Amino acid sequence: MSEPVARLDEIEPGTARVVEVDGQSIALCRTEDGNLYAIENRCTHDDGPLGEGELDGDRIECPRHGALFDVTNGRAMTLPAIGKVKCFAVSVSDGDIGIETG
Ligand code: FES
Repeated sequence: MSEPVARLDEIEPGTARVVEVDGQSIALCRTEDGNLYAIENRCTHDDGPLGEGELDGDRIECPRHGALFDVTNGRAMTLPAIGKVKCFAVSVSDGDIGIETG
């Protein structure tokens, strides 16, 4: 596993936070059902910080102009974003969350 980026018990279900891994800014999302997803923290519309947006189910809303992204696969679901964001593998070991970027 890569260096831990956070403890699992620090992240409430239904929330997201921004973490840095290997110089990349990543939105780490924990959905209400407890699943973890990591996506690029940069909206494909105009670089909005997705990890600062509202997480609702499997969707996160860009805080800049409101585009919705599916955190499970990185797809843009609504305009004004069209392109997909990158997704990263997440692992949990002894309560530590790791994200693979390479
Ligand atoms: S920057 Fe995300 S919708 Fe515009």
